Amino acid sequence: MPAESPIIVPMRQADLASVERVARSDGGLAWPRSELEAELTRPHSLARVLRPGPGLPIGAFVICWVTGSEAQLLHLAVEAGQRRRGYGRALLRSALVATHARGASDMVLEVRVSNAPALALYASEGFQRIGIRQRYYSDNGEDALVMKRAIA
Ligand SMILES: CC(C)(COP(=O)(O)OP(=O)(O)OC[C@H]1O[C@@H](n2cnc3c(N)ncnc32)[C@H](O)[C@@H]1OP(=O)(O)O)[C@@H](O)C(=O)NCCC(=O)NCCS
Repeated sequence: MPAESPIIVPMRQADLASVERVARSDGGLAWPRSELEAELTRPHSLARVLRPGPGLPIGAFVICWVTGSEAQLLHLAVEAGQRRRGYGRALLRSALVATHARGASDMVLEVRVSNAPALALYASEGFQRIGIRQRYYSDNGEDALVMKRAIA
């Protein structure tokens, strides 16, 4: 971990360009701007950004939905050059707390079967595999693992 504690706050309109930059940083599929903007207005959406320290550029973000007692983790990304500094874990834990405060008692997510870093993070945070969605990802036909954990 770097010396400074990261700062996690709700995502705002002014953050969207930075969020797009983070989402594209490893060449992965980016969300269209219109979709990101929509997340700021959907009542069931919870979107947060992380800055590594005061005044520093956004380095990571997370987007969840809360519907009834279930939270769904839609997207979690850390800028490619800022990984393995604990930011992904910090954002995930923040999302668990925030979705619980909105009434969620479980969190579910889908993750590519090949995404070893994400699988390791989710397993270390107590997510368990509950299913598989075959050929879920349209870009390469990859399967998705469905993972879930209770939020205490
Ligand atoms: C998955 C991701 C969010 C992890 O973020 P991160 O900030 O690098 O992760 P952290 O530093 O908080 O690491 C937490 C744990 O995850 C696991 N982990 C993270 N990166 C890993 C890697 N490259 N290899 C193996 N395990 C890894 C480890 O268990 C790690 O704990 P440790 O550092 O104590 O060993 C990041 O790699 C990322 O943005 N990937 C691209 C987007 C993505 O795949 N998102 C998830 C799908 S929705």
